[in-house]
Formats: sequence, structure tokens, C-alpha cells
Amino acid sequence: MSLHALAFLVLLGLTIQSQAELTPKTYYYEVKEANFTRLCKNKTILTVNGEFPGPTLYARRGETVIVNVKNVGDLGITIHWHGVKQPRYPWSDGPEFITQCPIKPGANFTQKVILSDEEGTLWWHAHSDWSRATVHGLIVIRPAFGRPYPFPKPYAEYPIVLAEWWRQDVEAVLLDFTRTGGDPNTSDALTINGQPGDLYPCSSAETTKFIVEQGKTYMLRMVNAAMNLFLFWGIGGHAFEVVGTDGSYTKPLKSHYGVIGPGQTMDVLFKADQPIGRYYIAARPYNSQPLISFDNTTTTAIFEYKGYKKTHSKPVFPHLPKVNDTSASVNFTNSLRSLASRAHPINVPMKITRNFVFTMSINTVPCANNSCEGPRGLRFRASVNNISFNSPNISVLDAYYGRIKGVYGDDFPKFPPLFFNFTGTNLSTSLETPLNATEAEVLEYGDNVELVYQGTNLVAGIDHPMHLHGHSFYVVGSGLGNFNRSKDRLSFNLVDPPLRQTVIVPKNGWTAIRFKANNPGVWLMHCHLERHISWGMEMVFITKNGIRPGESILPPPPDLPPCT
Ligand code: C2O
Ligand code: CU
Repeated sequence: MSLHALAFLVLLGLTIQSQAELTPKTYYYEVKEANFTRLCKNKTILTVNGEFPGPTLYARRGETVIVNVKNVGDLGITIHWHGVKQPRYPWSDGPEFITQCPIKPGANFTQKVILSDEEGTLWWHAHSDWSRATVHGLIVIRPAFGRPYPFPKPYAEYPIVLAEWWRQDVEAVLLDFTRTGGDPNTSDALTINGQPGDLYPCSSAETTKFIVEQGKTYMLRMVNAAMNLFLFWGIGGHAFEVVGTDGSYTKPLKSHYGVIGPGQTMDVLFKADQPIGRYYIAARPYNSQPLISFDNTTTTAIFEYKGYKKTHSKPVFPHLPKVNDTSASVNFTNSLRSLASRAHPINVPMKITRNFVFTMSINTVPCANNSCEGPRGLRFRASVNNISFNSPNISVLDAYYGRIKGVYGDDFPKFPPLFFNFTGTNLSTSLETPLNATEAEVLEYGDNVELVYQGTNLVAGIDHPMHLHGHSFYVVGSGLGNFNRSKDRLSFNLVDPPLRQTVIVPKNGWTAIRFKANNPGVWLMHCHLERHISWGMEMVFITKNGIRPGESILPPPPDLPPCT
């Protein structure tokens, strides 16, 4: 071989190698039905790749991952990467009729999961109809190559995916309560990594079991993927430390119990420092509204120490707060702080350019012959600032980008249209009726936003897990009762507020967040209780392009699912 040819081959080798490094990791997600036996009964559910929970995405900080989603089911579907900001690329975000139309049966959509400063645990889920009940999984984001965790590297890590299981088909549950106007049927079990655990019929043998070694520290990557339930959880006999939430590090928070709202994620360390034995990790509902029925069961998995000899004693069960203990929930949530270290600095917006107060209410609307199953024969709805969101039939992003008129309005109210004692008792039923509309709030690129979520006691006050797409936000304050602007702003934490994407707004209380509108696009904001989003508790932020290069929405992908 000539020297030339050799040099050529070496060069070729180099190019191939560097290309391999540059080519993003690709995952194939086939949305399809699969059979599972739970609670003594075989059932067909929608899955990704036949797995429940679905496959975990692994990445490092700052990487872009490609996911080729193929729909081989028989309903349209979309997939959302919850907590991934997707800078300048709302096209991959996923919520149906907001950033895309559903991927039709038989069709493909190649989505980009563009990570930036997220690090820790996030998750992905279907964002169409109620399919996310079974179509969901974790996103694990490790530190950038060669970078450390801000804590000693755990010996091993385990996923904890919390979810709800219905005996009935979930799409039927959705159809049913949409028809009757009442509450959805409650689930029949909660699950950890797809298994209900010991306390349910026909479930003992399959209970999820994790083997741990005495003296070692483990990391749990936890998500609450349940549709409609806040959860208290704990590990029998063990304390633990929360070190991250929603893909961002926190100061270590030591506790014996935790609360996790639908949509939230948590990175947890715990040391196997107890006598050799078996210990339950258990989760059960936190529910602040006694008027609603809910699935008040308990899911468990088992941590079994290496060297454990079979005995007849039951695994140790954790002490969990009472089901309606709002102060236990609030105390835990309010104790979280960002890490705010030199390696993981924070950047809380100080000069606020836009102020909003958004009320979240449960509403009622008239129903023919008062024949609905909501209160007084009415139909349930829900709203933000008294607007119940009407889903359009082409996506808001398509309409915004293509300047198509008549799909949405840009008049979303900045403040509640009417100020009343939001958290009072015996509120007049005349306040219950919302407007129906498809309205967006338009932000200038670079706006510093302060948004106060105000819960109301209309119909029935309850906690709301409020989620914003495309951004992380700092939770700067929270309290019970009505937000008082002149007084409550004085006690905001602007030093080390936690950075989140989903926050639990307490029942009949408020939560204030701040974020910078530096991600041009169309971004959904909604309650992550699935029944509330189904009733219209959602709205849309549109962030305009900036004027400098790198501040505009990127063009749409060629295979974006068409709306017509
Ligand atoms: Cu977890 Cu709009 O999503
Ligand atoms: Cu809600």
C-alpha cells in the first residue's frame, strides 16, 4: 500500500471516529399495545416498545438525543419530554394541538430532545388524551463527561416510577367522564416500576425488589407519573436526603417522608445503614379535598439487604403523614432550596418586567336537563384566570409560526378578571362559571416574569401541581390564603429558591415563581392533575423571537405531523 493510501485510510478512520462522537444517540420508540397481568387480570395497555414503565432515556448534561417515535397503535399520539427546555425548538415539545398535531397511526415523527442545563432526573410521557397513564418513562441526565456529582458518587441507582393502574381501559375512563360531566373513575392501584406490590391481590410475587448492601449509599431517581394523585412516600426505618428536583440540584434535604406531585421528579440518596433485613418503600395519596373520591391504596416495593435470611416477619413499613396532612406537604416542599454553589450557580430574575397573577379554579357549566354528574347536575370544568382552555384543532405553534389567524387569541388576562376572597368559604355559585377560549399570553424575548399562582376555593379547593413547558422557574414564595402583594413579596427567597418545572400550589394558597422568557416558542402551562387539564386548566405562553442571532425559533422539522 502506498503511503498516500495509508494516509487516506488513517484520515478516513479519524473522520469516522469523530463523526461517531458527534452523531447524537438515537432511540426508537414504538408506541404499541401490549398485554400485562395486574390485580389478577390480563389487560391490554398502550406502551412504548411493549414496556411498562417505558424505556429510560440516558444522556449527559448538554447533549441532544434523537428519538424516532413510530405509532403502531390505533389512536393518534404525541410524546413530551417533561422538563427538557428544548431551546428554540418547540417543535419537539409534544403537547397535542399546542406544538404539533398527533402522530397518526402508522406514522413516524423524529423528535429531538435538546438538553441544556438540566442535570438529574426528568421524564417523558404521552401528551395526548389520557395515554400518559401507561406511556411514560424516565430521562436520566448524568453530569457532563468528566464532571462530578455535587455529592459522593452513589454505589448504585434505582428508578422509582410511581403511577396509577386502572382495571378499566384508561381511554374509556376519559370518554366516560367527558360524557357524564362528573369526576373520572378512580384508579384501582398505585404502582412502583409497574408493580402494585404486596398489599394488592395477586401482586406479591411480582413486587419490585431492590437488593442493597449494608453500608452503601444508593440513589433513587423518582418520578410521580400518576394521573391524579399527590403522593406521600417513605422508606421503612431509613432517613433519606433529597439532592435534586426536576432536573436541578438542591441543598441536601434530610427527611423521613416526602411528598411528590404529579409531574415532579426527585433525586434521593439513602444509606443502607440499618440491620440486615427487608424494608418497604411505600407511597400513598396526599389528598386535601375530602369531597372527591380517590384511590386511597398503598403501593410498595422492597429493599432487601444482601445476606438477608428468609423469616416470616413483614418488611418494615415507613411512617407516613396522614392522607390530608397539608402542613406535612407544605413543610416538605417549602424546605427545598437550590444548591446554588459555585459549580451550580443560580440566576434569579431581579428586575421584573412582567407581573401576573393567575387563579386556578374548579368550575361548573350548565348541562342539558341538569343531567350531568358534577355538582347540582352541572358539568365540571376548570380554569386559569376564569378561562377554560378550548383546545384548537390545528396547533397553536403552527398558527403562530405560519401566521394563521383565528386559531388563538393573544388576550390572556394578566390578572384575575374579578377579585373576590379567592380562598373564602361559601363562595357564591354565580362565580363558578368560566369563559371558554383559546388565549395566549405573549412575552417579549428576555422578559423577567413574576407569576403568582393563586388557588381558589370555588367548587372545591385542592392543591394543584402547576407545570410550565420550555422553562425552569424559581419558586420564590408560597403561603396559605390570598396573596398579598405588598406584604408577601417582602419575604420572597431570592437567595437560594429551588429551580423547578412543576410546583405544588397548596390548597387555598398561593405560590410565586420567577423565570426569564429566553426561549422563543409556544409553551403550554397547565395543572398536572390530568382531570384538571381535561377540564381546561391550561393556557399558553408565546415568547417572541429576540433581535440577535441565536434568539429565534428554529425552522420546523420536515416530518412534523400534519394537522390536516
Ligand atoms: Cu408533564 Cu404538559 O406535561
Ligand atoms: Cu389542578
